[in-house]
Amino acid sequence: MANIYTLEPGKLLRIEGPAAVRVLNGEVYVMGIVCGPESKFTVLRARKVIVKPRTVSRLEITLGPDGNVEVAKPEEEVIDLWEEKLSKLDLRGVSVILGAMDVGKTTLTVILANKAASMGLRVGIIDADLGQNDLGPPATVDAAILEPGQAVTHLRMLQPVKAVFLKTTSVERVWKEVVQGVKRLVDYLIENEKVSTVVINTDGWISTDKAIEYKVHLIETLQPRNVFLIKRADEADKLIEAVQNKFADKANIVVLPAPPAARIRSREDRRIHREMGYGKYLNPPRDLTLDLRKTPIVNFPLFCGFNIPRELRGYIRKLVGSNIIHCEIIGGCLVAVTLNSALREPEIRDMPGRGKLIVLPNGWERGILVGLENENNFLLALGKIRKIYYNAGKIVVTVSKQFVDSAKIHHIRLGMIRLNEQFEEVEKVNYIAKLESLVARKAGSAR
Ligand SMILES: Nc1ncnc2c1ncn2[C@@H]1O[C@H](COP(=O)(O)OP(=O)(O)OP(=O)(O)O)[C@@H](O)[C@H]1O
Ligand SMILES: [Mg+2]
Repeated sequence: MANIYTLEPGKLLRIEGPAAVRVLNGEVYVMGIVCGPESKFTVLRARKVIVKPRTVSRLEITLGPDGNVEVAKPEEEVIDLWEEKLSKLDLRGVSVILGAMDVGKTTLTVILANKAASMGLRVGIIDADLGQNDLGPPATVDAAILEPGQAVTHLRMLQPVKAVFLKTTSVERVWKEVVQGVKRLVDYLIENEKVSTVVINTDGWISTDKAIEYKVHLIETLQPRNVFLIKRADEADKLIEAVQNKFADKANIVVLPAPPAARIRSREDRRIHREMGYGKYLNPPRDLTLDLRKTPIVNFPLFCGFNIPRELRGYIRKLVGSNIIHCEIIGGCLVAVTLNSALREPEIRDMPGRGKLIVLPNGWERGILVGLENENNFLLALGKIRKIYYNAGKIVVTVSKQFVDSAKIHHIRLGMIRLNEQFEEVEKVNYIAKLESLVARKAGSAR
């Protein structure tokens, strides 16, 4: 049922979604822009949006389950402080947003993008938060466009135009690749989409030395005009110090307080968010069969190595200690797939004078998340491996029926997450990184 709220200047309203809002009269300030009569916006589940009236205003608000409306105390809110700092900035060029979990990074991303678009700029938005990505699926970084004059309350309302697959949601394992991925998306947005502004949201990993090294490397690589640091208590202090020390003369560094009333998402909220993410991009499912000789797994190129002569197979069986269904030499490593299903993880052994032996258990590939990429290493679609047929050199991958561009697939990239039949994450398959680095050493021919 819809309720009518009358707001006077000086009062703030905090709306927790799901909610649909219509401005009946007056003018309110929401997510960086002014909304006049007849404007509408939605607030998604588990999200809060602050509404500040500029004149006496009447709002019609329809709440969904768990939705809520409350009057916010001005001391609980940072909206005026943020507005004061943001209004002085030049939003052209690249802006990067840093901060811990649940401090309002995604909210600030939307506010900056809305503001820039309201000034007539074409805006590129990049969500580089692998775990809580609001633009595209988990384990990816994605780019979307906000057209001049367009505004949104949530990133999820935008369709990504380009994506990079990063294999996992554990940023600490792939942060160097994240930096490269984000850089490629920034270049794409500026060169191909002709945007004047790029706003980049990041993950909340900021507390360790490695995390700080990652964020500093990101700034070094992107050379942004503005760096926003959202500060809650002393959590971000080391990061702020590192950024100020290194970039004070190269970028505008803007430190903003976190909203004290921000909704803290539970681990459960975060897991649901991720799982909804995989399902959304794999449902309704269909199977796709690819020839691994023509469409290789770029980071573990099975069927692209050297064949092992038949007469050597007996020797390898002895070496492995059980029957093998496939073997070849990839990047100087002898890779053998064994029938021994007791093996839980791949076994990696030194063969004196001959490189490594990698023994994979039969079925190792089942459920692994993959990226199907074009020739420029951009993601076309996510997939989940069903099975590799070693006799035929083929792989069967579950993809969404909505994915119709299979002719564009140039290669497959193996991810580091295993999904079950419901596309829920069941395991992090971190050994993939090890396999990848072992075979990459000498795999000159692999793309
Ligand atoms: N000014 C505010 N007042 C109250 N709640 C807010 C405010 N700004 C954002 N929120 C809510 O706080 C929560 C966290 O904000 P947001 O998602 O923007 O943070 P984040 O840093 O991106 O978090 P994550 O680490 O989960 O990506 C969200 O539910 C958001 O709607
Ligand atoms: Mg976020």
